[in-house]
Amino acid sequence: MRTFLILLLLAASLCLSSAQHQALMDYLEQRLLAIEDRISVWHEQTSRYATELREFKQQMAALTESLEKGREALRTELDAVGTRVDRVEREMDYLETQNPAPPCVETDDKVVEQEVTSVKEKSKAKYAKLSDCKDMVSSIKAMKIVKRMGGPKGMWTKDTVNRSTKVYIFNGTAEGTLYEFASVRELAASADMSSGRSIELPFLWSGTGHAIYNGYAYYVKEGKEFQLIKYDLQNSSVADSAVFPAEAQVPVYTLSPETYIDLAADEEGLWALYATKDNERNICLAKMDPDTLDMEDMWDTPCPRENAEAAFIICGTVYVVYNTKLPSRSRVQCIFDINDMVTSEEAPLLYFPRRYSTHSSLKYNPLEKLIYAWDDGYQILYKMAMKQKPVV
Ligand SMILES: *[C@@H]1O[C@H](CO)[C@@H](O)[C@H](O)[C@H]1NC(C)=O
Ligand SMILES: *[C@@H]1O[C@H](CO)[C@@H](O)[C@H](O)[C@H]1NC(C)=O
Repeated sequence: MRTFLILLLLAASLCLSSAQHQALMDYLEQRLLAIEDRISVWHEQTSRYATELREFKQQMAALTESLEKGREALRTELDAVGTRVDRVEREMDYLETQNPAPPCVETDDKVVEQEVTSVKEKSKAKYAKLSDCKDMVSSIKAMKIVKRMGGPKGMWTKDTVNRSTKVYIFNGTAEGTLYEFASVRELAASADMSSGRSIELPFLWSGTGHAIYNGYAYYVKEGKEFQLIKYDLQNSSVADSAVFPAEAQVPVYTLSPETYIDLAADEEGLWALYATKDNERNICLAKMDPDTLDMEDMWDTPCPRENAEAAFIICGTVYVVYNTKLPSRSRVQCIFDINDMVTSEEAPLLYFPRRYSTHSSLKYNPLEKLIYAWDDGYQILYKMAMKQKPVV
């Protein structure tokens, strides 16, 4: 623009008188200065706007970031609250069973009631039935939270053969002290584990797959070699020991990674659930000889290890219980019957009541039709309702 004006000035100067020339020059000079001023004001404004915009952007970024942080904190808090609510729910269940309000927990109380009477009254009648058992589970009839004692993982059980009222607590997955209580009632009334009789085992156990069978504790010794220990509870001595006859190299249930061999008792005897490297997908079953610790028979079940948390055996039928990695409701989703009388399709869909964490053990007692469950430090009894297996 300036060049153009100068040319204009030059052209004008040629044809105008010197006085006129000077006046025009002054006028144009002033206009030029004014234009220049305006331009510099625009410049200044633009740069100010740019700075303001930049500052605004920075502020927004900071605000978004703090909002994001706030949302994260809120989410964490919600998670924590969720966990607490679960916890409180469990505490309430527990307190409820401790201080029963008569009408609500009537069925629950019967669980223990029945268990006590069954020991006294029905002992003769039942032995006859044990030999030819044809029962399968039809539903979970009742549950009772008996106690909250010990760590998140463990196992509790009665002797599944002799009719003693004693209960045994295996707290933890690599410990060596077993606690014995005179009865479930005594356990429920006791302050803590040390009020029971402590039994020091000669070797640490591994996992939660132990069994109390006919006066002996059967358990897997901690260590790489899976050694079965048969421990005489009467005179406190090791009655027998043997390396587990199969290659149990992987945990039998993926949601309970400490347990490689799960011993289970039912009406028909002593069993072992395990998994091998050869058939890593599915759970294997073996019938054990309780005297020699040998395998009498073995089967590859169709039940996957993946997402399994525990299993129990009733009348020669394995019920595998599944859950999810973030614990939701435990359910029986695979069944294996050694006599092929029950298939998973025929079996009822069994959901365990309410939502807890995962069961670290489920031990069936054929004398009482009760399952002794360990759920995140809670000792729970499930009363099973039975029906006849379908006739083939
Ligand atoms: C129970 O086992 C847990 C570990 O799972 C341990 O922290 C706790 O001290 C044990 N309780 C008793 C009474 O031994
Ligand atoms: C323990 O008792 C059984 C019989 O109940 C007996 O056969 C065994 O020899 C006893 N063991 C010891 C070490 O006393």
